Amino acid sequence: MGAQWSARGTPPCPCLATGLFVCLKGQDILLYLPARLNFFITLIADVTRPTANCPEGQIVNANRDGNTTAVVIWNSPSCSDNSQMNVLLECTNQPGTEFSLGNTTVKCNCTDVAGNMDQCSFDIFVKDVTRPTANCPNEQIVNATLETDTKAFVTWSPATCSDNSQNVQLSCTHQPEAQFGLGKTKVQCICTDISGNTDRCSFKVVVKGS
Ligand SMILES: *[C@@H]1O[C@H](CO)[C@@H](O)[C@H](O)[C@H]1NC(C)=O
Ligand SMILES: *[C@@H]1O[C@H](CO)[C@@H](O)[C@H](O)[C@H]1NC(C)=O
Ligand SMILES: *[C@@H]1O[C@H](CO)[C@@H](O)[C@H](O)[C@H]1NC(C)=O
Ligand SMILES: *[C@@H]1O[C@H](CO)[C@@H](O)[C@H](O)[C@H]1NC(C)=O
Repeated sequence: MGAQWSARGTPPCPCLATGLFVCLKGQDILLYLPARLNFFITLIADVTRPTANCPEGQIVNANRDGNTTAVVIWNSPSCSDNSQMNVLLECTNQPGTEFSLGNTTVKCNCTDVAGNMDQCSFDIFVKDVTRPTANCPNEQIVNATLETDTKAFVTWSPATCSDNSQNVQLSCTHQPEAQFGLGKTKVQCICTDISGNTDRCSFKVVVKGS
């Protein structure tokens, strides 16, 4: 139950008993107790939840090439409530602050003085504007040793990806220690970061017959 000082004047509802005014407002009960002549304390049995309204999610680019953060602003979420009293807005993040690459969910609470709460949330996705760099090993030349000298197991140091983000994935058409037939085979690799920036590299595997 919350309490507030009412404005001077008469409560907007009939008097039940001498000096006691009870109003119904939706599901809430407002009790007006005279404090002094013509001045009332309003006690509110407030069971109505406020409504939290969050802005739309946003996709923003990182500050610039090589950067892993972005400063993001948004319109402040709003809290609407039946009570005329203050509703407290608390959010996990503030506009104008830096966000890391990827997705961050901003969560906000609207709490009225009676402790009723509503929550809303929205996503900030910071897009990486920097391409990763894919590094492939040199050409691998081996002699066929398997199945009457027509195949070979070939191994190599795996390709690597470097990027401003820690979140980059390597995918190749073949893995080290794969089996290759005679001749040249192109091994292709691609590095993809969380924002979908890519870089490719390739190298040849050559298996020689006897
Ligand atoms: C990223 O941007 C922030 C804010 O503009 C800046 O302070 C920081 O030095 C930048 N970092 C890099 C790696 O450019
Ligand atoms: C919102 O309310 C929940 C539940 O009481 C709490 O766990 C969370 O920390 C609150 N968030 C903020 C930003 O105050
Ligand atoms: C961010 O996260 C939310 C919730 O997990 C998801 O619905 C949304 O698709 C994500 N956005 C991006 C751009 O990954
Ligand atoms: C492949 O065989 C040739 C001779 O047939 C030899 O000179 C060469 O060293 C061999 N290469 C490897 C990697 O074993």
